[in-house]
Order: sequence, then C-alpha cells, then structure tokens
Amino acid sequence: MKEIFINNLKKDDKVDELFMLKSKEAKKDKNDRWYLSAVLGDRTGEVVAKKWSIPEEEFPALRALKDKEIVKVKGIVGEYAGQAQLTIQSIHKLGTDEKFDRSDFVKAAPEPSEDMYKYIHDIAESFEDEDLKALCLKVLEDNEEKLMYYPAASKNHHAEYGGLLYHMKRMLQTGDKICQVYTILNRDLVLTGVILHDMEKLNEIESDLDGISSGYSFEGQLLGHIIQGVKSIDVMTRDLGFSDEKRIMLEHMVLSHHYEPEFGSPKKPLFPEAEILHYLDIIDARMFDMQQALDGVEGGKFSEKVWTLDNRKLYKVREK
Ligand SMILES: [Fe+2]
Ligand SMILES: [Fe+2]
Repeated sequence: MKEIFINNLKKDDKVDELFMLKSKEAKKDKNDRWYLSAVLGDRTGEVVAKKWSIPEEEFPALRALKDKEIVKVKGIVGEYAGQAQLTIQSIHKLGTDEKFDRSDFVKAAPEPSEDMYKYIHDIAESFEDEDLKALCLKVLEDNEEKLMYYPAASKNHHAEYGGLLYHMKRMLQTGDKICQVYTILNRDLVLTGVILHDMEKLNEIESDLDGISSGYSFEGQLLGHIIQGVKSIDVMTRDLGFSDEKRIMLEHMVLSHHYEPEFGSPKKPLFPEAEILHYLDIIDARMFDMQQALDGVEGGKFSEKVWTLDNRKLYKVREK
C-alpha cells in the first residue's frame, strides 16, 4: 500500500516508495559523469528526480526501465528552484509478486474500484425482480475486468480511472433515495436503468489500463453507447426470456436517457423511471463538473469559465 504521495513531499524527507516512471533521460553533469534525470508521478502530481554519478555497471538496469512502469525508489527530498526534487539512491522495477494499486498512480475516482464494484453488485443482489437481478448481475460479472479501470468519458465528466463505476455508484445512491420519496417509482427498474445506461461506454470509447482514453472505437463513432446499449439489451433480455414489455421498457430507458435528439436520444422519456434516470445522470455529471471547477478556487472568488457548464463562472463560498 502506497503511503507517501508527491503532493506531501517535504524537504529532507526520506523516501522508500513506489512511483510511476513518467519519463527518464540520461544526461552528463559538468564533470562529464552520467546521471539520470527522471520524472516520477502518482495520482497527486509529479516530481523531478535525479540519480547522480551513475557507475557503468548500473546502465543496463536503468536502460531497461520503461515509461509508465511502477518503480520502487529510495531517496531523499531536496529542493531546486523552489520545487521539491528527489535525489535517488536506488531505483528498480517491481518484482512480479509485488502488489500495488494502479489507482494510486493515475487520476482516479476517489474510491477503490473493488469497493465501488461491490456496492453496485450488492444493489443488484438486492432486487426483488428476479429478471432484473439476473440481467444486472450478468452484465456486471461479464464486464468486471474492464469496469475496474474504465473512465465514463473520453473527456469531460468522470474521464478518470474507475470513473464509470463512480458515476454508476453515485447515481445508484441518489436513485435509491429518490425512490423512497417518489413511491410511484419502481426501484428495481430505476436502478437497473442506472446500471445499464452507460454500460456500452465500455465498447464506445477506448481506454488503456490507466483509464486514459484515446478516443472512440469504430463502433462507438458510428453507433454510440445508446444504440450499442439497446442492441446488447435486446440480445441479453431475449436470452434470459424477458417479457416484451420489460425488454422494451429497458431499451427505452437507455434510448431516452440523453433526453434531447441533439444529444443522441431519438425519444424523450415516456414513463417516470425513464424520466428520473435522465435526471440522475444530469445531477451526477453536473456535480462532478462543478466540484472539479471549484477545486483550487479560493473562497469568495469565481472559477474560470466552464465550457461543459455553458461557460458559467462558478462562485466558491467563503470558508466559515
Ligand atoms: Fe449516456
Ligand atoms: Fe451517464
């Protein structure tokens, strides 16, 4: 388990910790001795690190280190031009049996993926409707591996490691509460809609294992997650023997969740569970964008213009 993060490094700290190697370069100092200049990273930032006067026998091991690899670094924190800089005593790659949590090293949702997955899986287990339970458990279990790291978008809201799970989890939390207030809502149907609505983002967008997206897949560009979602629900619900009504209602929820044709929905929601699904989606996206825009803004000041929020500048409340 990683204990020291880059945003907490202080001068004279001794470090024996894992980092992601962002880049490395071999350079010569003024006495013509080789040294290594590297950038190390974790989810909180980056730090420049130097290993001075490298003897020749260490060259092959250093050369073998790859970018984006997790490395074990021993060193001491110094300062250069007002910034923390790490002097490396030793740096080497991890043994295959050494475990680490990838979300410690990349921009990530604030909760471990395993915990979010378990929360969502438990919600599906709680359904009274056996069809919806079977469908959601199947979708979750079939996609478990990709869900662990997938972002919910290639840019914009939840474009981060575990972002899709985080989006689903927060919508489920809110949705569960809303169902207690508006008792005409069928809870199992609302929450199934949440679990399914963006599931095909797994096939719409491309992502590496760090949850960093390079853009859309071919199918994603030509069809998009709404149509991909309707297609996959059609196949799965027929396999599971759903009634026509239940199948088509689920397809309609996914089809209408963006609400407007210009955002990809050819139909507006035509029953309450579909209507509420759209608003759950909007609430979570808006809160994510607002929180991000206000991060780092001082109390009593405005944020920069936020493109995803119609160029609004947000106000950060003064601290009490
Ligand atoms: Fe969507
Ligand atoms: Fe969504």
